Amino acid sequence: MKLKDTFGRTIDYIRLSVTDKCNLRCIYCVPGGVSRCSLREHGRPEFEKIISFLRVARKYGLKKVRITGGEPLLRKDIVRLVREIKITGVEDLSLTTNGQLLSGMAMELKKAGLDRVNISLDSLRSGRYREITGGGSLASALQAITEAERVFWPAPVKINMVSIKGVNGDEIPDFARMTLERSFHVRFIELMPVGGCNFDSLRIISGEAKKAVSSVGRLLPLGRTGSSDNYRLSDAKGVIGFISPMSEHFCDSCNRLRITSAGKIRPCLFSDHEEDLAPASTETEMEQLLLNSVLSKAKGSLLKKAIQSGTMQQIGG
Ligand code: 5AD
Ligand code: SF4
Repeated sequence: MKLKDTFGRTIDYIRLSVTDKCNLRCIYCVPGGVSRCSLREHGRPEFEKIISFLRVARKYGLKKVRITGGEPLLRKDIVRLVREIKITGVEDLSLTTNGQLLSGMAMELKKAGLDRVNISLDSLRSGRYREITGGGSLASALQAITEAERVFWPAPVKINMVSIKGVNGDEIPDFARMTLERSFHVRFIELMPVGGCNFDSLRIISGEAKKAVSSVGRLLPLGRTGSSDNYRLSDAKGVIGFISPMSEHFCDSCNRLRITSAGKIRPCLFSDHEEDLAPASTETEMEQLLLNSVLSKAKGSLLKKAIQSGTMQQIGG
């Protein structure tokens, strides 16, 4: 059975934030730093609730799950969680991580059923990386990328770069060059408003990022996958993607629901509507939650107007 929303979109993808804890403090994710962070509603959805909900969603055609955070690898039961999620039968199970803890865990996660990873990487310069992430180690992130390339092969490692004016915008060509020799998918992501900051003056929109990449070589269009508009530089092994939540609306083809770290189902990143997983226990109740969330999915995001109320760590970037 397929799940269709009121606008005819098929919902077959869930982004699952498994914790709001993080070992980094990225400037765009925790604006204002730890103090603002401490105002957050702390949480991690309960293991059993996640699995029962996903099992019900599978019956309605769920195909794809992405585990996000916070930093998902901080959850002690993450390997078991991956294994149980895969057992529900999802075809494509991926995880977004900052890579600080991935190297030692990649093989274990792969064996548990993880199909691939996205690694956040916003600079290739160690001092700058440390500043952007509030203390992260570039060496660990790079080691994680190399390890993930080996372990998850032939699935490509996706690298997420949030491009920011005056912060890392000058590195866009260097990131594009990473795809020449290795089969990475480097994705340039537009900075989104979070935690009351709109960031308008700092945002590099995809059109500008594309121009910067063109200084490296000609971009051959490959078409869209999900929210990413993909290209390849001539003779490159990897792929370059542009993700444009701000300058383009991919709401028309949105196929996802989110589960926040507080265990709430959100039809859209920028929606206030939430359904709470906590009180649901029977399959029928889970089913009702799923249907309510899908039916409350609005046609398009109010992104431009919205100044996000929760931080990305809560909702799950
Ligand atoms: N704008 C764009 N992307 C963001 N992420 C986190 N916060 C933001 C933001 N404000 C992205 C990170 C990471 C993923 C989890 O979400 O780059 O790759
Ligand atoms: Fe942590 Fe990811 Fe947010 Fe950075 S973007 S602080 S790594 S959750």
